[in-house]
Parts: sequence; C-alpha cells; structure tokens
Amino acid sequence: MQETGLIEMITAKNLTKKYDTTCALKDASFTIEKGEWVNIMGPSGSGKTTLLNLIGCLDSPTGGSLLVNGIETTKLNQKERTRFRRENIGLVFQQFHMIPHLTALENVMVAQYFHSIEDEEEAKKALLRVGIEHRLHHLPSQLSGGEQQRVCIARALINQPQIILADEPTGNLDKKNEEAVLDIFRELHSEGRTIVIVTHNPEIGEMGDKIIQISHGEVKY
Ligand SMILES: Nc1ncnc2c1ncn2[C@@H]1O[C@H](COP(=O)(O)OP(=O)(O)OP(=O)(O)O)[C@@H](O)[C@H]1O
Ligand SMILES: [Mg+2]
Repeated sequence: MQETGLIEMITAKNLTKKYDTTCALKDASFTIEKGEWVNIMGPSGSGKTTLLNLIGCLDSPTGGSLLVNGIETTKLNQKERTRFRRENIGLVFQQFHMIPHLTALENVMVAQYFHSIEDEEEAKKALLRVGIEHRLHHLPSQLSGGEQQRVCIARALINQPQIILADEPTGNLDKKNEEAVLDIFRELHSEGRTIVIVTHNPEIGEMGDKIIQISHGEVKY
C-alpha cells in the first residue's frame, strides 16, 4: 500500500438505513483511510449496495453520521449531495448504465457536461487509459460487456475523483475482461485514490487492504 499518512477519508458512525420495515444497515461504524482499497463483502441482501449508495451520496441514511473527505454528508441537502458526489466520487456499477443512443465517447462526455467542461480531448484520454481508444464512436450495443465496463470506468474517472466506488464491477465479465478491469483498479490504487469495491469474488477480496464484512445489515471488520 502506498504512503497514506493515515488521513481518514470515510468515517461512518452508527450509520443506519431503514426501508419501511427492513433495516438494511444497522449502526455501522468504520473508517476508510485515504488511499486504501477496501472490499465490502457479505451474502446477498446483507446491505452492501445500501452501504455503497450511502457512501456515494446516492441515498441518505435514516440515522448516524458519515464523514466523507471531511464533509458531514448527512447534513447536505439533495442539491449539495449531488454536487459533492460529482466533485469527489466516481461510481462504477455492475449494470453499466450507459445511455444507449450515445457513443462511448459521448457517454463519457455526459459526465463532463455537469461541470460544463466540454473537453473532448480529456474524454478521449480517459478512454485511451482504459484501452478503448479504438471504439470511441461505437454505441453501447456495439461493445462487449468488458468494453462497456471500461467505458464506465472512464466515465467515473473523468472528473478526477479522490474516491472510486464500484458495485460488483466484474460481476458481468469473463475472466479476461475481469483482469483488464482489475488492472485499472490496481493502477488507480497505486495513484493513491481511495477505492471501495462491493464484491462476491474472493480473489478480489484478497487484493484489497481490508475487508468490511456485512451480515444482516451489521458490519464486522
Ligand atoms: N429501495 C428499497 N426499498 C426497500 N427495501 C430495500 C430497498 N433497497 C434494498 N432493500 C432491502 O435492503 C436489504 C439490503 O439490500 P442491498 O441491496 O443493500 O443488499 P446487497 O448486499 O447489495 O445484496 P446483493 O448481493 O444481492 O446485491 C435487502 O433486504 C433489500 O431487500
Ligand atoms: Mg447489491
């Protein structure tokens, strides 16, 4: 692991998320340091996506506190949360969530439009980085699953986020594409970015600095 100086990047205290009758996350308390690679693991329905969505400011908790990059995110209103997310967090999903009628290049540039920087060269550079420079003008339907996931990683990286969150990023990929995607995460980690990955894959589990294990909404690590 690279030198981090142990700066806390994500600190949860008694973080709780209830959906009506279901308590998806119960009093979760943990710390993730700057530059750490942390894997979230646990059975289906245990609360992994719920936790990742809270860290990613896609959702707000029903209790507890969550400090991300020095900001108490539970106190932000929806508009502030969206802005905070764009400036600090890159998200990668298992289902790629690409816009079907836009090309690979345009799908990456959509993330830039929020920042009003229509910088095609930056988007091309991000796609070059993930090895998709030869597929810039292909639609998602003309790309393989591995290629689509790499476009999504380029999209997540376009605003230079400190924190990369990924929910089963290799869940839909074969071994070769899984390796290609994991190589990108290794590189991002070596650059000092903070990486949090939800995975069922024990091989990925072994790759990180630590594992946050969740069972029935309870965090153990
Ligand atoms: N929007 C929602 N409304 C109601 N219940 C929800 C909602 N989202 C998740 N849940 C419930 O919260 C619990 C945790 O769900 P979550 O999606 O976090 O699990 P997970 O660990 O990501 O599972 P998987 O490995 O299958 O993706 C589950 O019981 C689920 O049914
Ligand atoms: Mg999930």
